Amino acid sequence: IFFKASGTFSCSFSILLLFLLAFLQEPGDVIAARDRPLLLDCQVEGEGPISVTWRRNGVPVPTGTMATVLANGTLLIRNFSKRRDSNETDAGEYDCAAQNRYGRLVSRKARVQIASLPKFLSHPESVTVDEGGVARLTCQVNGIPEANITWQRDRLPLSTEDPRYTLLPNGVLQITAVRKTDSGLFRCVASNIANTRYSREATLSVTGSRTYREPVILSGPQNLTINVHQTAILECIATGNPRPIVSWSRLDGRSIGVEGIAVLGTGNLMISDATLQHSGVYVCSANRPGSRSRRTALGRLVVQAPPGFVQWPQSVSRPAGGSAVFSCTASGAPEPHLIWLKNGKLLTPSGNVKLTNGNT
Ligand SMILES: *[C@@H]1O[C@H](CO)[C@@H](O)[C@H](O)[C@H]1NC(C)=O
Ligand SMILES: *[C@@H]1O[C@H](CO)[C@@H](O)[C@H](O)[C@H]1NC(C)=O
Ligand SMILES: *[C@@H]1O[C@H](CO)[C@@H](O)[C@H](O)[C@H]1NC(C)=O
Ligand SMILES: *[C@@H]1O[C@H](CO)[C@@H](O)[C@H](O)[C@H]1NC(C)=O
Ligand SMILES: *[C@@H]1O[C@H](CO)[C@@H](O)[C@H](O)[C@H]1NC(C)=O
Repeated sequence: IFFKASGTFSCSFSILLLFLLAFLQEPGDVIAARDRPLLLDCQVEGEGPISVTWRRNGVPVPTGTMATVLANGTLLIRNFSKRRDSNETDAGEYDCAAQNRYGRLVSRKARVQIASLPKFLSHPESVTVDEGGVARLTCQVNGIPEANITWQRDRLPLSTEDPRYTLLPNGVLQITAVRKTDSGLFRCVASNIANTRYSREATLSVTGSRTYREPVILSGPQNLTINVHQTAILECIATGNPRPIVSWSRLDGRSIGVEGIAVLGTGNLMISDATLQHSGVYVCSANRPGSRSRRTALGRLVVQAPPGFVQWPQSVSRPAGGSAVFSCTASGAPEPHLIWLKNGKLLTPSGNVKLTNGNT
């Protein structure tokens, strides 16, 4: 740019190509339904021509009638994991690589799973409960993605509008202040995008006796690991006559707080939008009203934060014989582990390459 006024000023500048090659979008983890098309995105910017290739478990994905790389870099698998003669599957870890004249960039590994709903790991068991007592029925299934569990009584959908009925997302059904009319045949229904399954049936019998009973914790909190912003549900269900009072505390004596904290049903603790500060050991206590008689149960909650970059390495231009420094920092809990790649290959320290400060 030249300015002419009284005298001549000149201003010159050079343009440094900052985006020799960079990902705009890397493939994300997905759960794919069998026999449906699957698209995995890989968007790059940089100086053309750029070629994009894909690998599954480190092996190039053969392209042809089954899979194609679209013009925008996306991988299209026409019929994901269509049943074939062999027991081969399309599930695995996929990454894409972009190449231009400056070098080669390899994406994160995206985990691709097949949606499935295997058989129940456990079925509800028949129980007999005193009138006014507490019933707990449970079933377990490991669906991908996680199955949605609902319950039926005598083959009809169970209404959970009655506040005495609490359904926890992990397949636990709690019924408090049990009445004769609650008895019946219970089963759970699990469903996800792959399938729907019904558990075996269990009988809930209600007896009339109302005798004195010491407090007992039927089920206390499980150890639980979640990510920040997720919801934690710590179960605690107690029975006794008179009905025990359930309360929560932290083993380290710190306050549980009030924000995002709610009690689900009669005694389960729900922590919404969890933060790292919510990690700790939680104690559930069941007290007999008006006495010191009590039972406790413990569970540890671990809140993790996925890794995220705080500082990225920047493109630099250096004369031969000079030094180039690339910096990279990431945050997360537990502390992330950093590795470096050069042209898509793991960079190992050698004569003129040094990794310092824990690879940062
Ligand atoms: C790439 O193209 C396909 C087909 O045109 C489209 O479905 C997909 O969303 C595109 N991906 C991106 C990241 O734009
Ligand atoms: C994929 O599925 C479609 C429809 O479901 C079918 O028409 C096509 O032949 C299948 N392709 C392959 C390669 O199996
Ligand atoms: C099929 O699966 C069995 C066991 O799961 C394995 O031993 C065998 O090698 C597999 N066959 C093919 C063709 O992948
Ligand atoms: C689970 O199933 C219930 C009843 O069919 C439905 O209302 C609810 O939306 C489902 N939840 C999810 C996450 O699919
Ligand atoms: C929970 O974790 C603690 C250690 O942190 C362990 O002692 C305890 O047995 C675990 N409880 C369950 C139910 O796994």
